[in-house]
Amino acid sequence: MEILEQVITQNKVLVGDSLAVLKELESETIDLTITSPPYFQQRDYGNGEFGVGNETTEEAYLDNLLAIFFECVRVTKPTGSIVFNLGDKYINGALSLLPYKFAIKATESKQVFLINQITWSKLNPTPRQDKRKLIQATEPFFIFAKSKNYHFDLENYLKHLDDHNKSNRTKPSEKLGKQYFELIANADLTNEQKENARKALQEAILAVRNGEIDSFRMKIKGIHKEAYGGMEGGRNNQIRYNGFTIIKILGNKLKKDLIESPVEITKDNAHPAVYPLYIVQELIKLLSKENDLVLDPFCGSGTTCLAAKNLKRKYLGIEINPEYVHLANERLKQTVNFTQELFL
Ligand SMILES: C[S@@+](CC[C@H](N)C(=O)[O-])C[C@H]1O[C@@H](n2cnc3c(N)ncnc32)[C@H](O)[C@@H]1O
Repeated sequence: MEILEQVITQNKVLVGDSLAVLKELESETIDLTITSPPYFQQRDYGNGEFGVGNETTEEAYLDNLLAIFFECVRVTKPTGSIVFNLGDKYINGALSLLPYKFAIKATESKQVFLINQITWSKLNPTPRQDKRKLIQATEPFFIFAKSKNYHFDLENYLKHLDDHNKSNRTKPSEKLGKQYFELIANADLTNEQKENARKALQEAILAVRNGEIDSFRMKIKGIHKEAYGGMEGGRNNQIRYNGFTIIKILGNKLKKDLIESPVEITKDNAHPAVYPLYIVQELIKLLSKENDLVLDPFCGSGTTCLAAKNLKRKYLGIEINPEYVHLANERLKQTVNFTQELFL
C-alpha cells in the first residue's frame, strides 16, 4: 500500500526492490525503460540478498534479472521499448557472455523482440594488465520492443552530429559525376535506358549539391561489375533490366548501431557505476516523445531520470539503496546545461 501511494506520483525516485515495486505498477503505463542493472558479481552495492548481481550462480543472476525484465515488459505500453545495458565478465579467464544469454532468454519468451543491439564504444576504457587479452572497450545496449508499433524518432537521434556535419560540409567538386555521363554515352544501352540513366545521374548530383546525400556511385551494365559478385538481388535486377543502378551514400547521416562515449568519471558523483548521460539522452530522443514516462528500475545515481528531466519527459526511478536515492535526488535538483554534456 505504501509503495502504491508512492508510485502514483511521477518524477520520483522510489526506494525499494525493483521487483516488488514494479509488481505494484499498472500494466502498459510506461513509454520507455532504460537501465543498467548490476553486472554479475562485479561490485558490492551494499544491498545484501536483495541486490541483483550478488547471486552465487549465473543461473540465479539471470533468473533475477529476467524476473525484473519481464515486469518492465508488462508495464510497457505497446508503443514503448525497453533498453538494458549489460557488461560482460571474465569467469575463470573466459568471457561469460551473460549479456547475450540474457538477451536470448528475453527474446525466446516471444513477449519482445530485439530492435537493435547498440554497441557503446568506450573512449577511455579501464586499462588492465593482462598480456593475453585485449582491453574490453565495448558494452551492449539491447533495445527491445513489444510490438512493431514502437516509437522510433531517427531524425532526433544524434541530431547534433548531423548538424555538425552539415555546417562543416565542403562544397562538392564541379566535376562531380562527369565521368559517368561519358560512360553512359559509350555504354551498350538502348536510347531509352541512356536517357533514364542521365536523368537519374542528374538527380543524384543535385542531391549531393543540396546536402541530401554525401555522395553516390553508379554501376552501368557491361562496364561495372555486378553487385554482390553477381548474385540475384534488387541492384543486379536494376542493372540487368534498366541498364544501371545508383548507390546513394549517406555518410555520417547513416545512423549506425554504434555510439562512442567516454566512461563517466565525474568526481562529484559517489556512485561507482554511472553510465553516460550522453548515451541515455540520445536513446530517450530516439525512443520517446516529450511528456512520455521513462522508467529506470536500477536507478543508481539517477542518470536516466536526469536525462529524462532534461528532455522534458517524466521519470520514475527505483533504487534499493537509500544512499543512492539521496544522491539521485540531489543530482535531480541541479539544472544541467544540456549541451555541455554532449560529446562531439
Ligand atoms: C549499475 S548501477 C546503476 C547506475 C546508474 N545507471 C547510474 O548511472 O547511476 C545498478 C544499481 O542497481 C541497484 N540495485 C541492485 N539490486 C536492486 C534491486 N533489486 N532493486 C533496485 N535496485 C537495485 C544498485 O544499488 C545499483 O545502484
